[in-house]
Amino acid sequence: MKKTVLVSGGAGFIGSHVTVELIQAGYDVVVADNFSNCDRTGYEGVKKITGREDIPLEVMDFCDMKAVEALFGKYPIDAVIHFAAYKAVGESVAQPLKYYKNNLSSFLNVLEAAQKKGSFVLFSSSATVYGEPDSVPVTEATPRKPATSPYGNTKTICEDILHDTVKASEGRLKGILLRYFNPIGAHPSALIGELPRGVPNNLVPFITQTAIGKRECLRIFGNDYPTPDGTCLRDYIDIVDLAKAHVYAVGRMVEGRMKQDCEVFNVGTGRPVSVLELVNAFEKVNGVKLNYKFAPRRAGDVTAIWADPTLANTEMGWKATRTVEQTLKSAWEWEKHLAGK
Ligand code: UD1
Repeated sequence: MKKTVLVSGGAGFIGSHVTVELIQAGYDVVVADNFSNCDRTGYEGVKKITGREDIPLEVMDFCDMKAVEALFGKYPIDAVIHFAAYKAVGESVAQPLKYYKNNLSSFLNVLEAAQKKGSFVLFSSSATVYGEPDSVPVTEATPRKPATSPYGNTKTICEDILHDTVKASEGRLKGILLRYFNPIGAHPSALIGELPRGVPNNLVPFITQTAIGKRECLRIFGNDYPTPDGTCLRDYIDIVDLAKAHVYAVGRMVEGRMKQDCEVFNVGTGRPVSVLELVNAFEKVNGVKLNYKFAPRRAGDVTAIWADPTLANTEMGWKATRTVEQTLKSAWEWEKHLAGK
């Protein structure tokens, strides 16, 4: 029998790509979103890519427990992937309560409903939980560091909440934490991708918006870091590769292949890339010139972090396959699609 996966925040950047991969892998998917930080582009794009007009869409807020209960009552949910959360680091520093209230209460509601129903839970965590690591690459056993923003702290706290709840449930609730590194790029169809509201905080949307002429100049935050070219090192992971990791994780849960009741996996490539290398690769692969300048360091940025993805490779059988160049091409195609070019 087909398994049903609920994707909270399923219309957003990561959620829409995950929905596509799940449907293509044969799952029934229920998309739930309150459209607080995205429009219908992602959902409509998913329908076009998959050729499926019948993907259930529930417009709802996961902070509303009654709505969450009704949702779990309506569908036979085998697993839930929880994305619905605020994600702007700077905003979380300015408005911590908004972040703690939304990101924690929605997750608590999902967990409570999932536990009652006996559904598996997959939580979208982040490499941000490692802070500035003492050594790189980081494995899942690398100690977590205190978060540098309320946003980051909600990831750490939600990880702990899942661990504690799973432990107390004595086998009734099982879950997986995926720690994403830096997801970038767009679907090769250019029908779905990242749609930042206002000025992008993240590097690649800023690059593509500068290249298309929406932004005047990219500022590279810091060229005096102790790295080979002085700019920060990150593990940029293709959004479709990242989405596929969820299919492996869900399969592991619903097919009874988990080895622990709460498992943690890094979702990265294992390949460090500097900001400058990324900028140069973007220019080269897309044949465009990017207006950029060096600027002071950005508060809260870590010098270098990249994944040791061995556990996900060996245990889940998942591996990132796309090159940085392929991914940067997809990001550019998406920006051009948005501009109608
Ligand atoms: C950030 C968040 C992280 C979150 C992730 C989501 C911080 C400290 N971390 O990661 O918690 O999970 O986004 O995608 O905010 N850069 C520039 N110019 C720009 C933008 C970025 O030089 O205009 C540089 C940054 O200094 C950094 C790199 O590009 O070295 C990547 O930045 P970004 O895309 O914002 O991701 P992270 O900061 O790694």
